Amino acid sequence: MMPRMDGYQLLEAVKHDSELKQIPFILLTAKVDLDSRIRGLEQGADEYISKPFNNLEIKTRVKNLLNRRKIEIAFIHAEKMISLGQLVAGVSHEILNPISYAKNANESIPDFLEMILKGGKLPPDKARNYLYEAVQDAAEGIRRVCEITEALKGFVRQGNEGFDFEDIHPGLDATLKIVHVNYKSRLRIHKSYHLPNRVHCNLNHLNQVFLNLIANAVQAMKGQNEPRLWIETRQEKENAVIEIRDKGPGIPEEIQGKIFNPFFTTKPAGQGTGLGLYISRQIVQEHAGEISVASTPGEGSRFTIRIPIQGTKGAAHDGRIFTHPDVDRSLTEIQYPYRR
Ligand SMILES: Nc1ncnc2c1ncn2[C@@H]1O[C@H](COP(=O)(O)OP(=O)(O)OP(=O)(O)O)[C@@H](O)[C@H]1O
Ligand SMILES: [Mg+2]
Repeated sequence: MMPRMDGYQLLEAVKHDSELKQIPFILLTAKVDLDSRIRGLEQGADEYISKPFNNLEIKTRVKNLLNRRKIEIAFIHAEKMISLGQLVAGVSHEILNPISYAKNANESIPDFLEMILKGGKLPPDKARNYLYEAVQDAAEGIRRVCEITEALKGFVRQGNEGFDFEDIHPGLDATLKIVHVNYKSRLRIHKSYHLPNRVHCNLNHLNQVFLNLIANAVQAMKGQNEPRLWIETRQEKENAVIEIRDKGPGIPEEIQGKIFNPFFTTKPAGQGTGLGLYISRQIVQEHAGEISVASTPGEGSRFTIRIPIQGTKGAAHDGRIFTHPDVDRSLTEIQYPYRR
């Protein structure tokens, strides 16, 4: 017998701890009846071995479990690299574009100045108008570059790999911008941010979930005349709730139960790995939360994330409730290409 708690209690404690729950758990017990085995597996045990046991069998099972974890970690890493690679390609193009028109505008400024001061091809009042436009274009190009680099900074927070109490809204905004820059769609976004508290989370990981969900929504609405996206945050008791809804084609009922499985994708080869939602669910579970989908074919899909504001370990909220002003922008229209 174990001291203070039995194996089932230990299993429950481990599987409810966001940092420990990833550790594979083997129940080694003398209880061989079916009920006990099912109870153990339901509580999250990865393996169940009944006594008497064989050393070699245990060693082999441990080795297999560790290999499985290694493969899972490799998946996560690969998916991260894929989404980052796509992101970098889209973003660098989007930086080059405004820089090149800012550069062109900048180069024309001396010519217009000369025409105003010394005369030339254009009368001075026309040259003055062109000069004014060129200065505006250069400023707008630089503003766009700043906006995109700010969004990138908001998306990947360097030097902050762990859990802390965070405002999740800048991450949502940064992700929206990055997805938009990458998919170049005209998009109507309805935002209602009503979550008053900071949330105990790993912000970089959560941003990855937002990226997956928003990218899925935008991909699902590809080719639509009026793509619309709703993003809502709110607090329900001790949970933060984040909802991402689209008016895409929806998800057929028969596949709704499969979309969170690894490698499940309906996208053509080369366009989807089918890991986006699988990894998103893992990340949400890492936060002791849950992610669910509700979808009506023909009307759209709604993904809902629920995570405890305080985290799992009763991490003490330091009381610094961030004073995020309630945002209810029922409609924010983003055009592409951006108007100059
Ligand atoms: N908002 C949505 N609308 C319609 N279908 C969706 C939506 N989100 C997910 N799906 C369906 O769920 C499947 C799995 O999504 P998931 O994000 O896991 O993988 P993927 O998008 O296909 O590929 P990846 O995310 O790896 O690029 C998608 O292929 C699609 O069929
Ligand atoms: Mg996806």
